[in-house]
Amino acid sequence: MARISNKFEGIMLLMCLGWAAIAEAEYIAYKDPKQHINVRIKDLMSRMTLEEKIGQMTQIERTVATTEVVKKYLIGSVFSGGGSVPAVNASARTWVDMVNGFQKGAVSTRLQIPIIYGMDAVHGNNNAYKATIFPHNIGLGATRQAYIYI
Ligand SMILES: *[C@@H]1O[C@H](CO)[C@@H](O)[C@H](O)[C@H]1NC(C)=O
Repeated sequence: MARISNKFEGIMLLMCLGWAAIAEAEYIAYKDPKQHINVRIKDLMSRMTLEEKIGQMTQIERTVATTEVVKKYLIGSVFSGGGSVPAVNASARTWVDMVNGFQKGAVSTRLQIPIIYGMDAVHGNNNAYKATIFPHNIGLGATRQAYIYI
């Protein structure tokens, strides 16, 4: 009985040491929101390969983007050029599903850096079906507004 107990305790000790080692090895400063942004950037940059840096500086149009392409080429950004929509009169759900598909590819890479989704849109968002669209001159006028009424 004592022998079994010792063996069990030994296994438990090894498991604890293993967990401690894993916890220590897995600390990644760039993923720690408590770290200063400069510390996080420096840490991330020091981990990136040239291929990852090139991918992160690349923005591709949604018509050539897929989950696999974003993952394979380590793409940093995907965007919709003027009028580039996932479907005619696409719902918000369709947009979210499309972007989430690209994002899935991005966060499944080694460094798990999410993409930024860009949109060539004017007057509010003229690519999103049923979104509010403002007359262009109101948008221009709003840029001259010194303060906002709430
Ligand atoms: C898209 O929406 C417009 C305006 O509601 C409508 O006239 C048009 O038929 C719709 N097109 C499709 C393919 O659903």
